Amino acid sequence: MCGIIGYLGQKEAYPVLLAGLERLEYRGYDSAGICTAHHGTLHLHKKKGRVENLKSITLPGTIGIAHTRWSTHGSPADKNAHPFLDQSKQFSIVHNGIIENYLELKEELRKEGVAFTSDTDSEVIVHLLAKYYHGNLQEAVLNTVKRLMGAYAFCVLKSGNQEIIAARNGSPLVVGLNGGENFIASDVSALIEHTRRVIYVDDFRLVKVTRQGVELSDFQGRPLPPSIKEVNWNIEQAQKQGYKHFMLKEIFEQPQVVEDSLRLNLSLRKDFSRLLIVACGTASYAGLVGKYLIEKIAKIPVAVEIASEFRYKEPLFSRDDLILAISQSGETADTLAAVRLARQQGAKTLGMINVVDSTIAREVDDIIYTRAGLEIGVASTKAFIAQLVTLYKIAYALAGQEFSGEGLVEKVQQTLSLNSQLKDLAKKYFAYQNFLYIGRNINYPLALEGALKLKEISYIHAEAYPAGELKHGPLALVSEETPTLAICPQDSVYEKTFSNIQEVKARNGKVIAVATQGDERIKGISDDVIYLPSVKEVFYPLLAAIPLQLFAYHIADVKGCDIDRPRNLAKAVTVE
Ligand code: AGP
Repeated sequence: MCGIIGYLGQKEAYPVLLAGLERLEYRGYDSAGICTAHHGTLHLHKKKGRVENLKSITLPGTIGIAHTRWSTHGSPADKNAHPFLDQSKQFSIVHNGIIENYLELKEELRKEGVAFTSDTDSEVIVHLLAKYYHGNLQEAVLNTVKRLMGAYAFCVLKSGNQEIIAARNGSPLVVGLNGGENFIASDVSALIEHTRRVIYVDDFRLVKVTRQGVELSDFQGRPLPPSIKEVNWNIEQAQKQGYKHFMLKEIFEQPQVVEDSLRLNLSLRKDFSRLLIVACGTASYAGLVGKYLIEKIAKIPVAVEIASEFRYKEPLFSRDDLILAISQSGETADTLAAVRLARQQGAKTLGMINVVDSTIAREVDDIIYTRAGLEIGVASTKAFIAQLVTLYKIAYALAGQEFSGEGLVEKVQQTLSLNSQLKDLAKKYFAYQNFLYIGRNINYPLALEGALKLKEISYIHAEAYPAGELKHGPLALVSEETPTLAICPQDSVYEKTFSNIQEVKARNGKVIAVATQGDERIKGISDDVIYLPSVKEVFYPLLAAIPLQLFAYHIADVKGCDIDRPRNLAKAVTVE
């Protein structure tokens, strides 16, 4: 959840690390800090709040490590900001993950005279390093990892040493190589400005980065050959390119994403009796659309499990099931744990992942990469669209049917022209405190996704229900104060959803309908109508996603929310 980065080269490290932190900030933004080494001394600057708080000063040196924090243990305060130093101020560390046995280690170190300065779990790492250091930093790190339980990626800097040592067990870590300057970071976005040559570090690996290159070893200290890869992202993808927010830019990239996703070549073996989808958040809602789709088109049973529930509920599945893990980041801890559990019990796993060579991508038996490109906004938009198109491709492929794309790129493009209407609607509705989202059948997951978007970026409470469920309880919430966003295209359940809208209107509820172009009838009963181009029933989710994203976006913008960095959230949820 936190972002870490290390640099050593010929340039001044502070500005390089600062820029890297800004790219990693989507991983957490409770505090930030940088430590550099210069002339045998460590220099430290860290502050509560955003990375920009570090801009007022600079530190000397051409080697350093840095951190942006998403708090787990200890409040977002200066004292809990990374990097941490040991008592002799010779060692400095930054850490992403959770050290589960930190209380026990803290107690042991305290008895040995260590005075802790923070409430974090991470600080134990730097004191253990100091304890185990007898002239060889690599050895000290190896002895330190032997004592740690939990998940981590951490970087170590020692005063006077021209090297950064990092270790990984459960949290992402990637090395960037650029001739005489090298990097280590939580993800590629922090390095892409400088290099596309990377090494993805596996679990239980230690990396020594110097200006000359990289040495990789396992936790027993045995050397391993590094495998260098070329990243196919570019710097433009990591920039806003004139858009006010990454989220808006990513929404507008969706026609291209649909086009790229349609080009995906799938070769699927239909040697399973049930598909079991595991995912979290938006990815799980894509999975739910997939369930409706695959059951309808390919007639194969599909179950969808929230990954965090799956891993702890003694799930029932057999070797005949195919476990499909859907994840944008490929790093979500719960989804990763679900994959590991399934594999341990002998099930076949398939990943639908956006980030190439991410942990889940590397652990599944088979992989389909979605084609969303780099997604930076914490609220997932184009990754969802890429997941949907990929699921259409899977459904049609499993059914042995041709899927040509049905003019979807143009229809998605057309749907984006709703932007100015959604901007106006946001001005009308931004002050409401509660919303209901309803949809039926394949559009029910879209109601869930729309409500999630509104919650996470505008902080407005929104609940989603299958439209038919309203009368079983939530109808009690309907009043003039609680508008309902109803997804009601002209599909096979149109009349049913239409009746549910009438039930809301009969109770003085305001209704914003997402409907099919030309539907005059719905205009008669709704307060506002958002018209989608007409498509085949199964494709409405793809189009409906766009106004729901734009509605949440513009409401959050009118309210002045920090859209790309919503409070309390982070892009890649690498903790449980
Ligand atoms: C989406 O807007 C969210 N920020 C979140 O629900 C996200 O989809 C979820 O954490 C899963 O992430 P993943 O796709 O990277 O696994």
